[in-house]
Amino acid sequence: MGARKVDALNKRTSKSGLRKTVPRAWRGEVDHILIHEEEIQDRVRALAAKIARDYRGRDLVLVALLNGTVMFLADLIRHLQIPLRLDFIGVSSYGTGTTSGEMVFTKELRLDVKGRDVLLVDDILDTGRTLKRVGATLRKLKPRSMKICVFLNKESRRVEDVSADYVGFEIEDYFVVGYGLDFAERYRNLPFVGVLQKHVYSNGK
Ligand code: PRP
Repeated sequence: MGARKVDALNKRTSKSGLRKTVPRAWRGEVDHILIHEEEIQDRVRALAAKIARDYRGRDLVLVALLNGTVMFLADLIRHLQIPLRLDFIGVSSYGTGTTSGEMVFTKELRLDVKGRDVLLVDDILDTGRTLKRVGATLRKLKPRSMKICVFLNKESRRVEDVSADYVGFEIEDYFVVGYGLDFAERYRNLPFVGVLQKHVYSNGK
């Protein structure tokens, strides 16, 4: 089951046949919807089914990275029909810019993952710096296995040699927000993935 590719102009209509537009409150900031809510729900359900098949009978520990996974994780685990443990690691790139900067750990893992099957969950795999660092930290704790699940993958931006085992959607290098993803801590509550208008992040440049 390959990840869904999202086309550049997003000419598709939503499942209902109606082309949904950006809600009024965000129209001055979000240019267009890249991935509609219904597409997200379908895809996350399919991802959960695949993960459940792969991890049946295993000792699964989901380790989610804060804060961007909030929506993806909530939807994913409600469809995961297998026993699992859940814990969080807080990690954030310093500042509010558009590129990954210095990394700060804001919450340590509390569960013992030794001998268990860890599935790292993140909202987006971009340069790969975050997952490379977190992956190295977790490997020292000697899990039985470790795989990566991300909602979005921006392959073209990769700097580190990191790849995900489960991917929701492959996307081009757009500045995306919504469904947990932020810019300066805003937009996380959008139920869709939208492309941010340039004036919001370019600071008038
Ligand atoms: C974002 C995102 C990933 C990471 C991906 O986190 O949630 O964890 O960047 O980028 P990378 O592959 O280039 O490392 P951010 O630091 O913005 O924190 P957040 O989850 O709180 O939004």
